This record gives sequence, structure tokens and C-alpha cells, in this order.
Amino acid sequence: MPELSFHLWPDVGDPEAVEFLVAWLPPDNMLELFPNLRVVFSVGAGVDHFDLSAFPPQLQLVRMLDPGIAQGMVEYVTLGTLALHRDMPRFLQQQRQQQWQAQPWVPAQQRRVGVMGLGNLGRAVIAQLRSLGFQLNGWSRSAHQLQGVTCFAGWEQLPDFLQQTDLLICLLPLTAETRHILCARNFNHLPAGAALINAGRGGHLQEEDLLAALDSGQLGAAMLDVLQEEPPGYSHPFWQHPKIWLTPHIAGVTSHDSGCDVLLDNVRRFRQGLPMHGAVDLSRGY
Ligand code: GLV
Repeated sequence: MPELSFHLWPDVGDPEAVEFLVAWLPPDNMLELFPNLRVVFSVGAGVDHFDLSAFPPQLQLVRMLDPGIAQGMVEYVTLGTLALHRDMPRFLQQQRQQQWQAQPWVPAQQRRVGVMGLGNLGRAVIAQLRSLGFQLNGWSRSAHQLQGVTCFAGWEQLPDFLQQTDLLICLLPLTAETRHILCARNFNHLPAGAALINAGRGGHLQEEDLLAALDSGQLGAAMLDVLQEEPPGYSHPFWQHPKIWLTPHIAGVTSHDSGCDVLLDNVRRFRQGLPMHGAVDLSRGY
């Protein structure tokens, strides 16, 4: 897009000419710095790190709907789903104890996988898991219809969804409503021994509740890509926990190539007065 001039912070050129800002978290005084700013693009898929109540209402905020993030998420969740489905945490522990011990095999068709969050990431993950034959449930705030997926919507249907979920995958946006949705009350609706993958945000998980659920056997294992505090402190109990796999927030990362294509497409759309992909509804929070 050679007609669009581009500056890399802190070289901003003429601040009055700046219409678009691409950032993880822009400064609070962005309108003072750039009085003609029109759109803020988050470089990430989530915008939970923004204080949306203080976001200038005259600006548009757009989150990153990058196919590269979706592909990364599909790979990560498929890896985790297959590993937990095939009992890998237990086999790794057995290996360390030099135990050669088979465990009963459950075919994918009998494993109920529940995906929380049916936006572009949830749907991409579901398409891949469907091809592997898992029984699929989906839960989201509003009603969806997805081929081959039993869809649940809203808080009233959350217990039903959880009761039918052996492996719970959280890909929700973090909002005031979804904060701590992964908590004891909801874990208790899952069948005993269920597994968890959290690739949403650390704020979704009530961390002490996870430890208690793993200790009691209510949960069998957890794979976590996100934590309340990243990186966790040295004494954080998750580091050494035998039933927890931790990864350092790498599940779905914005790809430079495809992320730029998405960004430039949105700039063109904005210039043509078309709605941008990933435009955030400030009142909804995503
Ligand atoms: C990463 O977590 C992102 O929001 O893209």
C-alpha cells in the first residue's frame, strides 16, 4: 500500500497526519498526541488489556482477526486435545517412574469435547476436531448453529454443556462476565476426571480452584497457555504440578505476513466506509 505513509514509534512524523495507530496498548493520551486519530488496531486477537470504559468513543477499536493466529490456535488445541485424549500426562509420569503400563483406550467418537467461545478461533478449532471424529459441544453467550456441534448458549445452558464435556477448551474473550468462568462451581458440573485446555486468557481461570479440582480428581489434567500473571513467579505451584502442562502464551500469535494483510484490508475498508473486520463493540467488550 505505497500510498499510505508508515512510521515506527517513536518516529511518528507529523502527529496531526496520524489517522491509524497499530499497537498492543497505546498511551492513554493518544488523542492529545494524535488529534486526527480515527482507528486503533490491536496487534492481538484480544482487547481485554484495554480499559474500554475509558476508550475515546469517537475512535474505533479493531482487534486482530489474523488467520495466522487461528492456525496457531488450531495446532495448539489439536495438540492438547489429542495429548489429553490419549492420556499423555499420565504416560509421561509413568515413563519417569519406569512403568510400562497400558491404559484403556477411548475412541475419539466417545470423547466429548466442549469448546467455550464460538468466534473465529472456536470455529476454526471445531472444524479441525470434527475431522478427528470427536463428539463436539459448543458454548457461547449468544445462540449459534454449527454443523455437527451441539450448541449451548447463555448462562442457563452452561451447566448442561459442562455435564456433557469430558475435555473443556476455553477460547472465550475475557470480559467482566467471563472472568473466572473456570472456577470450582463450573468444574463441579464436569464429569469427574475431565480435562481442561485454557488458551483464552489467564483471567478466565480461578487458579486456586484448579489446584483443588486436580487434587480431588474432579479434573484429571490441565494444559494452560495463559496465566493471571505472565510469567508466573518462581514459587507458583503450576510450574511443578504433575497434572499441569504450561506453555508461555504461544498458542496463537499474530503472523507478520497475514496480520499485515488483514490490517491493510481494514484500512482500505475504513477508507471506503465499509465495516472493518474485528471492529470491537465497546459495550460488549470484544
Ligand atoms: C494473544 O493472546 C492475542 O491476543 O493475540
